[in-house]
Amino acid sequence: MTHEYTLSLAAKTPLTADIWHFVLESDETLPAVTPGAHLPVRTPTGAMRQYSIIAADDRRYEIAVKCEREGRGGSRSLVHETVPGQHLVALPPENGFELVDAPAYLFIAGGIGITPLLSMVRALLAREAPPPFTLVFCTRTPATTPFRDELARLPEGSVIIHHDHGDPDESYDFWPLLETPDARHIYCCGPGPLMDAVRDMSGHWPQKAVHFEDFNPVQAVREADEAFTVRFADDAPALAVAADQTLLEALRAAGASVASSCESGTCGSCRLPYLAGDVDHRDLVLSPLERQRELTACVSRARGDTLRLAIPGPRRRKPEQ
Ligand code: FES
Repeated sequence: MTHEYTLSLAAKTPLTADIWHFVLESDETLPAVTPGAHLPVRTPTGAMRQYSIIAADDRRYEIAVKCEREGRGGSRSLVHETVPGQHLVALPPENGFELVDAPAYLFIAGGIGITPLLSMVRALLAREAPPPFTLVFCTRTPATTPFRDELARLPEGSVIIHHDHGDPDESYDFWPLLETPDARHIYCCGPGPLMDAVRDMSGHWPQKAVHFEDFNPVQAVREADEAFTVRFADDAPALAVAADQTLLEALRAAGASVASSCESGTCGSCRLPYLAGDVDHRDLVLSPLERQRELTACVSRARGDTLRLAIPGPRRRKPEQ
């Protein structure tokens, strides 16, 4: 079983109106991390969310959390429902966005996507002879731009901060930076449209030189999704999953304990056996054979009205929120 770390929230400070800096400390030695690593944290809603680690030592991780107004509430609960001194559970950090050695780098960040790139920039600048890099940081306005003071102190000419003021016509034009492939490695993290733009403009680069960090590779709930009913292996009452709710959320709201980590269909922690139903598998982990018997509760849903899971139903329902 994956080891869980109990971290104490030592400090929580705003970086902008929506982005908060969290310092998490532990009494036990924490795993070492490399630039680009992220930390799965259980939020007060019970949902796991992943946050890039911007600084670390053997007893402390620092992360930045954006309160997503349109999100499903996990990060919002972390920002609004935690107080210093509170304990939070985290899983071991992971890194699917490693900083590889390269002669030069182009970092492209949008909004909260600055966090893994900032840890990379800090790591490069800590070297005796830092390689050249350019960081392009796109945000809506100066007020929504975290880490402005630190960015202002970076070597002259290495940072471009661009504000689009919410107007897509004012988006940064990456083409001049991407037109001619060379020895640089590109690292990009930010909202979907920004990453799509960079993907489109970097298709002619060597694949191994272009790196993306996407914490939500699978959209858990989509606009056209419909409600469905879950039945269980025993005679527990059927459970309704709303159109805007994941199976995992519905199970937890009913009092079921279901493990999870990525909550985006990539790790397999939330896999559950099922007995019947037409499953819309949306994960990126299960094999075709496994999909005949299992589903991932964080992203998969029923194509029809009903799914029957091969697990006992939750007996003790939590009170309605
Ligand atoms: S929690 Fe990772 S696949 Fe569901």
